[in-house]
Amino acid sequence: MRMVDLIQKKRDGYCLTSEEIDFLVSGFTNGSIPDYQMSAFLMAVYFQGMDIRETTQLTMSMVNSGNIMDLSGIHGIKVDKHSTGGVGDKTSLIVGPLVAAVGVPVAKMSGRGLGHTGGTIDKLESIEGFHVELSQESFVEQVNKHKIAIVSQTGNLTPADKKLYALRDVTATVNSIPLIAGSIMSKKIASGADAIVLDVKMGSGAFMKTLADARELAKIMVQIGQGLKIKTIAIITDMNQPLGYEVGNANEVKEAIEVLGGKGEAGFIQVCLTIAAYMSVAGGIYGDFNQAYTILSGVLQNGGALDKFKQFIEAQGGRAAVAENPDLLPRAQNHVELKSTLAGYIQNINAESVGTAAMLLGAGRKTKNDQIDYAAGITLKKKTGDEVGPGDVLAVLHSNQAIKPENCQILSKAFMIGPQRPEELPFVYDVIE
Ligand code: URA
Repeated sequence: MRMVDLIQKKRDGYCLTSEEIDFLVSGFTNGSIPDYQMSAFLMAVYFQGMDIRETTQLTMSMVNSGNIMDLSGIHGIKVDKHSTGGVGDKTSLIVGPLVAAVGVPVAKMSGRGLGHTGGTIDKLESIEGFHVELSQESFVEQVNKHKIAIVSQTGNLTPADKKLYALRDVTATVNSIPLIAGSIMSKKIASGADAIVLDVKMGSGAFMKTLADARELAKIMVQIGQGLKIKTIAIITDMNQPLGYEVGNANEVKEAIEVLGGKGEAGFIQVCLTIAAYMSVAGGIYGDFNQAYTILSGVLQNGGALDKFKQFIEAQGGRAAVAENPDLLPRAQNHVELKSTLAGYIQNINAESVGTAAMLLGAGRKTKNDQIDYAAGITLKKKTGDEVGPGDVLAVLHSNQAIKPENCQILSKAFMIGPQRPEELPFVYDVIE
């Protein structure tokens, strides 16, 4: 088999056989297929797509490029949750302890942020002492004891995805539905989950900008999971503005603690409860969604979820007192208010611009090796639909570095203000089962 023939075949719109897909994934992983040929192939997929059989094969070839986690030592149905990536997306910090509090084992491997999107691991590391690396044995032990452990992706899981993702990032081929589906599903399958709940983000801050694209991605991932006999559910949720009010790391943990204690933005709570309810039904704890939703809503109110969060933080060496006193989390030295110059209603807050502004303040990495300033970030004071007048504070920027006028400019571009109150967008658009 020659890579050049496979590039040509895909370029001309034909489907590849399973052997051909396996050949190119294993060849790229072991270095026998060079970046330049794989780049051409990725661009061909970007334009020509892949059908469901090809996408499933791509997923499995990536799973088989490395190790598969053995979580058989964990009691119960292990349900994993994955977000396609967003801004202010602290959902895992809430949903994990919430479902663990009712008995769903959460054995989760999470990523770090890159570019404008944040990552759960960076957020957890903003808690003093928190360890994100556990041996396989301690991981299993902790999940059996506390029902929850969240660790960073280690070991040799899906090395093909790591290499391919890095190449897609620099060849403008990230935004391809079969490539995203294969990338996400290969990681979930390799991490050994029995059931998967996917949070597919849609809107200005997401990879999928339209509902039609989000639905297509969701359907393909659900089909891949079901084809492999892994119960998979996808929930399409809004990312036309950041989720909640905080964007960063320590400040997102603070907001997560508020929600775990029964407070917070109503729409954000709806997203968390929807995901948690599907997870606990998939985990066999409750019989139906509505029952699960009502009970879990009570667990946020009665302190059960916050208690589980404390146990989880303590189990991984973190300072659990932050749950009672979030002021113990890192706090920035510098704060600047961004004020409105206009009167009207907020039409939209471009999530990608807010994420980029937060990243430039130090909350994220421009390149893989950058150090994060855990205290850096943005607090939104107004959200879409709110009325504002000149001089009203739209947001506060936080950083330990000097906050420059350019930082405020980038953030101010995210806010679109107009004369009419905009139509309210749903927080949850659709569920694909
Ligand atoms: N998240 C992933 O893990 N992979 C993608 O391709 C896109 C989002």
